[in-house]
Amino acid sequence: MFSTKLLRWFGQAKRDLPWRKEPRVPYRVWVSEVMLQQTRVDVVIPYYRRFLRRFPSLKSLAAAPLDDVLALWSGLGYYTRARNLWKAARACQGALPRTAAALRELPGFGPYTAAAVASLAFGEDVPLVDGNVARVLARVFRLEGDAREESWTVAATLLPKGRAGAFNEALMELGATVCTPRAPRCGECPVSRECQGRSAPERYPQPRKRPERPLLEWTALALQRRDGAVLLSRRPEDALFAGLWDLPATEIKLPGVRQHGELADCGVVEQTLTHREVRVSIQRGRGSGTPRSKTLRWVLPLHLGALGLSSLARKSLRRAGIAGA
Ligand code: ADE
Repeated sequence: MFSTKLLRWFGQAKRDLPWRKEPRVPYRVWVSEVMLQQTRVDVVIPYYRRFLRRFPSLKSLAAAPLDDVLALWSGLGYYTRARNLWKAARACQGALPRTAAALRELPGFGPYTAAAVASLAFGEDVPLVDGNVARVLARVFRLEGDAREESWTVAATLLPKGRAGAFNEALMELGATVCTPRAPRCGECPVSRECQGRSAPERYPQPRKRPERPLLEWTALALQRRDGAVLLSRRPEDALFAGLWDLPATEIKLPGVRQHGELADCGVVEQTLTHREVRVSIQRGRGSGTPRSKTLRWVLPLHLGALGLSSLARKSLRRAGIAGA
């Protein structure tokens, strides 16, 4: 049987990861699953450890200022995840709901996260599909076209009652370590005999057509004060990198701040995001004054490490010659 073989394999092959300590703590499962969306395990591990040291419980996360959460997320990308984590911690008042359906009501819980927390932490019999699972199932059952939708149905039919957590995690693990996108190790696969795609695994899943990424361009201002502090502005709630600190774009008004002398051109930094290409031209100059806006502040380079900045903002600061970013 597919699930029996898979579970036996998982029992002896699973990686020892910090969020897999038994007994599972729902809060920890949740944090790890959110971080693992879109981000590789080796990148997540140090972030996960730091995050749990600073916010060891749901209550401590709910009590923290959003800025502290964003600061710990700095560099991990997809910052909406951090904002939603914080919002959901505040919304659920002390304990996470125990079913996928109830979890779906919280900010940031899509079908995957809700099913992951419900099955891994609470043992609910619900299937889940992420990129790894969709690939495994597309190969095993030769699912044609975009396998995402169909995978949810197939996963539900395979689910062994009472073992959903281990089964779901085993499927993800198989996709991450054996049934990899390129050069899958079919020789080590516990379900290779059941696999209809074994003779041509790389044919599955068939690639999704990605829309082109629109190019976003702006110019940012790196104003430095005599003591070396740099002027940062908080990005608006409806913008890309919402709520994070960044060099102000040239369109932004700077009440209370004076600029001295000429601006120097520092060139361009670029970043590719999932849905966009971003190109920022950097200008550097001197400034002074006391900002009359809470979304503007002077920050000494030595304090940049503790602030919620995107990787793009850190690149921009380095491009402007500001150390510490
Ligand atoms: N990817 C995301 N969550 C995972 C998990 N719990 N096990 C293996 N891979 C994962």
